[in-house]
Amino acid sequence: MKHLQDTVKLHNGTEMPWVGLGVYKVDEATEVEQAVETALETGYRSIDTASFYDNEAGVGRAVKRSGVPEDEIFITTKVWNDQQGYEETLRAFEASREKLGMDIDLYLIHWPVKETYRDTWRALEKLYARGDVRAVGVSNFEPHHLQELRQVSDLVPMVNQVEYHPWLAQKELLEYCRTNGIQLEAWSPLTRGRKLDDPIVGRIAGRHGKTPAQVILRWDLQQEVVTIPKSVTPARIRENADIFDFELSAEEQRELNALDAGIRFGKHPDEFA
Ligand SMILES: NC(=O)c1ccc[n+]([C@@H]2O[C@H](COP(=O)([O-])OP(=O)(O)OC[C@H]3O[C@@H](n4cnc5c(N)ncnc54)[C@H](OP(=O)(O)O)[C@@H]3O)[C@@H](O)[C@H]2O)c1
Repeated sequence: MKHLQDTVKLHNGTEMPWVGLGVYKVDEATEVEQAVETALETGYRSIDTASFYDNEAGVGRAVKRSGVPEDEIFITTKVWNDQQGYEETLRAFEASREKLGMDIDLYLIHWPVKETYRDTWRALEKLYARGDVRAVGVSNFEPHHLQELRQVSDLVPMVNQVEYHPWLAQKELLEYCRTNGIQLEAWSPLTRGRKLDDPIVGRIAGRHGKTPAQVILRWDLQQEVVTIPKSVTPARIRENADIFDFELSAEEQRELNALDAGIRFGKHPDEFA
C-alpha cells in the first residue's frame, strides 16, 4: 500500500480502500458535509457511517456535491441493534440506502445482539445474493460469534470492524480473521485521542518527523488492518492521510506491539447490551 487510494481485495474480490474517514459523533447539521468534502478533496475514497450515527443523509449530500463519481467512493454503513432480525434488517437497509441516496458498498452488523444476530446475518446473505450490496460483514464480533455464524451460514463475512489500536492489538481475533479470510478493520484507531501523548509513540514519531496519530495509523497499515480515523478538523483529516511516505522498522513495530494491554475505550462485545 503506497497511496491513499490503494485497496485491499476482500475475499469476494471487492476492492476496499485501506484508509477511510469515520464519522461517528459527527453532527449531521453542522459538521458531516464539510468533513466528508474535505476528506474527498484530500483523496480519501472511503467513508464509514452507520444508521446509529444519524448522519447518512449528510454523507450522501457531501458525496454528491464533491464531484467525485459515486462509484469511486466506498460507502460503509451498519444495521443498529434495535433494527436487527431478518425482516427488520431488510427494512433498515432500505432506509439507509434511501438516506444516503446511493448504493452501499459494505453493510455491517453493528454489534452481535445475542438474540438476533443470526437472523440479521440471513438478511445480509439475502442482500448480498440479490446484488444490493458489494460486500457484507460484521462489527464487534469475537471469534466465538464468527464460529457461530459458520455453523449457520456458508457465507463468510468479508470484514470484521472492531476496536483496534496498539493498546488493544486483538491478537487472537486478528489471527482468526487472517486464517479465515476476513479483513480486520480498526475502529477508534486513534484511541479517541486518549493515548496520543504516549512517550514511546512520541519518540517513534519524532524519529520520522511524523505525528503520533500518523505513527499509529501507519502501524495499522503495516499490520494489514484497514483503518478509519475520525476527524472534523481539516488539518487533521489531511494529516491522517499523510502516512504513505514512511515506514516503521521491524523494531518500531515490536515496540508498538508491546504496548498491548487489553485496554478498551469502547464496550466489550460480550458486555454490550
Ligand atoms: N463499529 C463500531 O462499533 C464503531 C465504534 C466506534 C467507532 N467506529 C467507527 O470508527 C471511527 C473512528 O473511531 P472514533 O471516532 O471512535 O475515534 P478515533 O478515530 O480513534 O479518534 C477520533 C478523535 O481523535 C481526534 N483526532 C483525529 N485525528 C487526530 C490527529 N491527527 N491528532 C489529534 N487528534 C486527532 C478527533 O478530533 P476532531 O474530530 O476534533 O479533529 C476525535 O476526537 C468512527 O468515527 C466510526 O466510523 C465504529
